[in-house]
Amino acid sequence: MTSPRTSSAAKAVSPASAGPDNSNGAMQSIMHELRQFAPPVDFAVRAHVKSFKEYERLYHQSIDNPEKFWGEQADRLHWFKKWDRVLEWNLPDAKWFVGGKTNLCYNCVDRQVADGLGDKLAIVWEGEPMREGQPPEVRRLTYRDLQRETAKFANVLKSKGVKKGDRVTLYMPMVPELAIAVLACARIGAPHSVIFGGFSANAIKDRVEDAQSTILITADGGFRRGKPVPLKDTVDEALSMTNLVKTVIVYQRTENPVKMTPAPGRDHWWHDLMRDASDQCPCEPMDSEDLLFILYTSGTTGKPKGIMHTTGGYMVHTYLTSRYVFDLHEEDPSELYWCTADVGWITGHSYIIYGVLPNRVPTFMYEGAPNSPGPDRFWDIIERHKITKFYTAPTAIRAFMKWGDEHPGKHDLSSLKVLGTVGEPINPEAWMWYQKHIGGDRCPIVDTWWQTETGGHMITPIPGATTTTPGSCTRPFFGIDAAIVSKDGQEMPPNAGGFLVIRKPWPSMLRGIWGDRERFVKTYWAEIPGFYFAGDGARRDPEGNFWVMGRVDDVINVSGHRLGTAEVESALVSHPAVAESAVVGMPHEIKGTGIAAFVTLKAGQKPSEALKEELIQHVGKEIGAIAKPDQIRFTDALPKTRSGKIMRRLLRELAHGGEVQGDTTTLEDLSVLANLRQSEEA
Ligand code: WTA
Repeated sequence: MTSPRTSSAAKAVSPASAGPDNSNGAMQSIMHELRQFAPPVDFAVRAHVKSFKEYERLYHQSIDNPEKFWGEQADRLHWFKKWDRVLEWNLPDAKWFVGGKTNLCYNCVDRQVADGLGDKLAIVWEGEPMREGQPPEVRRLTYRDLQRETAKFANVLKSKGVKKGDRVTLYMPMVPELAIAVLACARIGAPHSVIFGGFSANAIKDRVEDAQSTILITADGGFRRGKPVPLKDTVDEALSMTNLVKTVIVYQRTENPVKMTPAPGRDHWWHDLMRDASDQCPCEPMDSEDLLFILYTSGTTGKPKGIMHTTGGYMVHTYLTSRYVFDLHEEDPSELYWCTADVGWITGHSYIIYGVLPNRVPTFMYEGAPNSPGPDRFWDIIERHKITKFYTAPTAIRAFMKWGDEHPGKHDLSSLKVLGTVGEPINPEAWMWYQKHIGGDRCPIVDTWWQTETGGHMITPIPGATTTTPGSCTRPFFGIDAAIVSKDGQEMPPNAGGFLVIRKPWPSMLRGIWGDRERFVKTYWAEIPGFYFAGDGARRDPEGNFWVMGRVDDVINVSGHRLGTAEVESALVSHPAVAESAVVGMPHEIKGTGIAAFVTLKAGQKPSEALKEELIQHVGKEIGAIAKPDQIRFTDALPKTRSGKIMRRLLRELAHGGEVQGDTTTLEDLSVLANLRQSEEA
């Protein structure tokens, strides 16, 4: 492995060069494209926040007296016992709604049934057809259905010994049962750890062991492009490397043959256990600060961090951002909201399930690819289901652009009212295309900046109120004190690049890293003392709008998926032919950021096309397909400074230089370049 790197991102990268790995060209284009879009008047009329003035009034209230603001918001939801204090803040530890007792499953499901809305739709789901030629499968679940199913599955979990506080691992396809399992965990106070279905057996094993989870929920598979993805096989492989897991529950989705019970009594079919389960299971009153879930995300070292979110603050923040940012209206019977993320990421947690359901607006879930059976799959879904709010990632938008305007053009998208984007900076070209071809120049676009750690939206337009400019995520949400600062915490003047920080606690902030207090303090609170350090570089324009440039640390956003370059490096050096590797981001037309890997081989190993392919597949196997390098470059040695540090900036420059010329399997001699750079800098 390369020399272990600690997170001293802020020291290593000057703000001016912030975001070297997120080179989707956003910054250059921003300079040419400063067109502004005022919120459409007819939209503003019925929006929750009707003008920028109103946004500013609420924003100032929320900053001047956060306890009053958030207390009033929390009052809209159900509490078994009201809190004693809204906030207790001992940097870096926040406690929100201290002493309050609530349950997130209750607020997502039971509260609606109790208020007479049991027959209202909660989840609309569409999956790929079970067999070729059949129509796609559609399922509709009301709040009453969801109450029954979550209660039953909660009883199943209890019958397998799961108690409040026990971590339950989920590795599932995008089916309603994933939402049911998540909510069932919340119902009984068992924190979930959802692992994205694209991760490898190794990744599952690491996460299960880190969370010390003894129960895992999975499926025989999920459909993608007409083929079952064999999830259970991957679980079996993961569990052959650890004997921690005593119970595996398998939902049958595909009829893909699977092996059950390699170890006696371990594996059970979901439907067998559900058959006899009682549908009565009251929601456990949870302390506001009880752990709701752990979600693993990449950092600057090889080991992913288990980000911890607790109950009360996360609930209120995701509820309120869903309401305002997507302008959700429970009284509007046509409202149908669709977020295309996977529940395996924070976006799916917060904006498919937890934030949306308490708003009493149905959430649409989709299982499958955006271009199967055809490149108009999403537009066909929007037309048939009459989706009103649509939330996706810039990388998807860039792919749609490439596939051609005619695909959305064939469909009636007039039901759409708000379009959202998340996950990485959006280049103005993609923004403009989205606005025109999907939004019909009619729908406000909300470019939402936030992170796994922040739990919910932090900087985002409010449709109806905020004037938008392509490429800018505009203004902080209510209660969010965001700023751009220098390394010593001084606020930067307008347009000057700096570090994006949050200066005051917010309800859905992470409460820690599971099992690693030191890393929590060091990563987020030590870089710029006193403030939450986001790891992004940004600037603020003279009007006060934020422009996020990208990460300033060794994290990259590949197709909006967060990866640590060190993770990919560890995967590469675990291959027997590799001596050393250094991974950096490179511009990529669709992914925004692609992965370039510089590799030195062990003595006796020869570079070849076959070895390249083998290394790419190896990374896929070690981490998951999302981490496969786009480019492998063999070099005789990695360029290093005299003190032995890898010259990452030089590698980034090389990776930004486009395709490698000539025979791609020849050894590059980077030491010459390194020497040159050293004498330049001397
Ligand atoms: C990036 C995803 C620019 C950013 C919710 C952040 C964005 C990282 C935006 C978090 C945006 C997310 N504009 N960059 N609107 N949204 N990012 O934890 O670099 O998967 O730090 O959370 O994505 O990624 P994560």
